[in-house]
Amino acid sequence: MSKAIDLAAFPRDFLWGTATSAYQIEGAVAEDGRSPSIWDTFSHLPGRIDNDDHGDEACDHYHRWPQDIALMRELGTDAYRLSVAWPRVVPGGDGPVNDRGLDFYDRLVDGLLDAGITPSVTLYHWDLPQVLQDRGGWTERATAEHLAAYASAVAARLGDRVTRWATLNEPLCSAWIGHLEGRMAPGLTDLTAAVRASYHLLLGHGLATQAIRAAAPGARIGLVTNHSTVEAATPRPEDVAAARRLDGHLTRWWLDPVYGRGFPADMRELYGVDLPERAGDPETIAAPLDWHGLNYYFPAVVVDDPDGPVPHAREVHRPEVPHTGMDWPIDADGLESLLLRLTEDYGVRELYVTENGSSFPDTVGPDGAVDDPERTRYLEGHLAACARAVRKGAPLAGYYAWSLLDNFEWAYGYDKRFGLVHVDYATQRRTVKSSGRWYADLIRAHRALGATD
Ligand code: IFM
Repeated sequence: MSKAIDLAAFPRDFLWGTATSAYQIEGAVAEDGRSPSIWDTFSHLPGRIDNDDHGDEACDHYHRWPQDIALMRELGTDAYRLSVAWPRVVPGGDGPVNDRGLDFYDRLVDGLLDAGITPSVTLYHWDLPQVLQDRGGWTERATAEHLAAYASAVAARLGDRVTRWATLNEPLCSAWIGHLEGRMAPGLTDLTAAVRASYHLLLGHGLATQAIRAAAPGARIGLVTNHSTVEAATPRPEDVAAARRLDGHLTRWWLDPVYGRGFPADMRELYGVDLPERAGDPETIAAPLDWHGLNYYFPAVVVDDPDGPVPHAREVHRPEVPHTGMDWPIDADGLESLLLRLTEDYGVRELYVTENGSSFPDTVGPDGAVDDPERTRYLEGHLAACARAVRKGAPLAGYYAWSLLDNFEWAYGYDKRFGLVHVDYATQRRTVKSSGRWYADLIRAHRALGATD
């Protein structure tokens, strides 16, 4: 077991988990009353996804969930972060609830609890019902209200057993990548739409927080956001200003309003888009939370790019730094510094790493084993960074590896593999990778420390 990780830094009741999301693993897109989401539409547009892959079958988790829970037990994890598919539960986007959709999550939650695994449920991991997109999607205020109604229905059904809830996963990807860069559903490249979407996502987060509290007293509610550390590539004032803008775009725009500071003035000016604000919205967006989830993958080093898209900051490629199979630079110190920033600058009092992981082109060896030492190294470095952050005061209470399974990696399709468990998509055969075995050993070693206290 790794000596590089100061395991004793983690509290005894630290949650060791894995994470997935509905569209990336479930498949069964037309079963039990589910309606299409924006990802069904987007992934079937020719050329939008590598190899024209889509989530029609994905990991077939909708049918194979008992086997997947058995894999979690094999890894020895305490917790599992899953997302609920809105189009299964409210196929019309708003209006009637589809009990057959909720039944699936009911069975899954019971199965997890029977296996001694705590579910952590995210309500929105990007799969907006297409019918709502047809009415303007996140550019419209009504979508935020519909999210709250859907959240209330899920919390009413599962809230007697689920206590851990997240409203949104990575709203910056929905807004910026989905509405500004066009690389994710719904595939728009429109700054006004993107800024309006960002506003309504955060408003929806606040409204959903209130709705879950009302439907499930005792719920512990958080928001999951993804961030990168941002550094200027040179000390030139233009590059330093570009780094400040990118940090505003990736972090301050999201965390400042959620933690009661309002939307940052410099970014409002940069975007130049009127926010669809109404009285009371700032308080709704800043609804008190019980915890915060950080998703961290890579840092950004940038130069000024006056002619490039907003926020006019271009990432520089640094060949000297190791990269993952996504071509993302590896820098575990970024995770430590973001955990400390959430603690010190934003006053977060309960923190989770809700996603962290890496993709590498894993293959099954002739002996049937999958050996992925690069992923183990990545995890080891990032968990060592978590331990350092805890020693410096970050209230980190859990870590969810992304991902339990190889799965549909959005615009990159199935070639990018993030799992601790390999999936052969032709046969749906699952194989625990060597990194998965390493994670299981780590969890056991941490538990053993508790046993000797
Ligand atoms: O697969 C995604 C996940 O859906 C959201 N966070 C980043 C992961 C890796 O790209």
